[in-house]
Amino acid sequence: MRISKVVFPVGGLGKRFFPITRAIPKEMLGIIDKPLIHYAFEEAVAAGIEEFIFVTRHGKNSIEDYFDYMFANSEYFNIKMGSVCYVRQNEPLGLGHAVLCAKNLIGEESFAVMSADDFILHSKSCLGEMIKLYDGSNMVATMNVSSEDVSKYGILDPDRETEKLVTAKSVDEKPSIEKAKSTLAIIGRYLLSHEVFEVLEKLEPGIGGEIQLTDALLKMIPSHGLTGFKFEGKRFDCGSKEGLLSAILHVANQNGKLCRVIEDFYGDKK
Ligand code: G1P
Repeated sequence: MRISKVVFPVGGLGKRFFPITRAIPKEMLGIIDKPLIHYAFEEAVAAGIEEFIFVTRHGKNSIEDYFDYMFANSEYFNIKMGSVCYVRQNEPLGLGHAVLCAKNLIGEESFAVMSADDFILHSKSCLGEMIKLYDGSNMVATMNVSSEDVSKYGILDPDRETEKLVTAKSVDEKPSIEKAKSTLAIIGRYLLSHEVFEVLEKLEPGIGGEIQLTDALLKMIPSHGLTGFKFEGKRFDCGSKEGLLSAILHVANQNGKLCRVIEDFYGDKK
């Protein structure tokens, strides 16, 4: 099924990176010479996405400035004029609320949502692989996390599984270790039916007092189902310092010159 639009929710505060994120959006933190949001954008372009919607807020202007430059230089991205827009999320009320802010720009078609915090290093576009298998139900990227980490994620209650897909009986946002039905976590790639907007509009705040996208997905299981896509490649939680550092090291390690810096560092430590 064709998906042509992506929503990038970039309104988060990036508290785990204070103080730097007091002045720099977390999506603009760098992996060597490109910011996190650049990698997500590249993955979307490789997936065949044609319209890009950023849900932004106060203090995030450098994202717009960055992409102005990128789009003016076709060596980076050769995308059509007018295919990028920015909407504002004027209060940080959660991921579900951020997605709802894009409602008027989506219309009656399924669309993608991507979180730049989840950096996936792979030769194939994770989003592109999802789109190939998308059948109109709600779909999320998923991977197993350690049981101590389940309370950081939306966690699926798995039902039928094939090599690449898993259907979920239910889903729970940030459950405790005791309550989690599995360790299968949602990673920030979603393909959603536009009907999610009707559900989000009526949704009460969930965990953390936020409008949770996961709660909308749960409500839609009887009508739309929920499928997890077991993606290939290594994923880094770049919303955390450990994840960002690990991503930087992995990218550097793939670069001839930079990889020598890592070798020198370990050499010095011996
Ligand atoms: C969000 C979602 C969560 C998902 C996670 C993936 O949480 O609410 O379901 O597992 O992204 O990164 P956040 O990290 O914004 O708290």
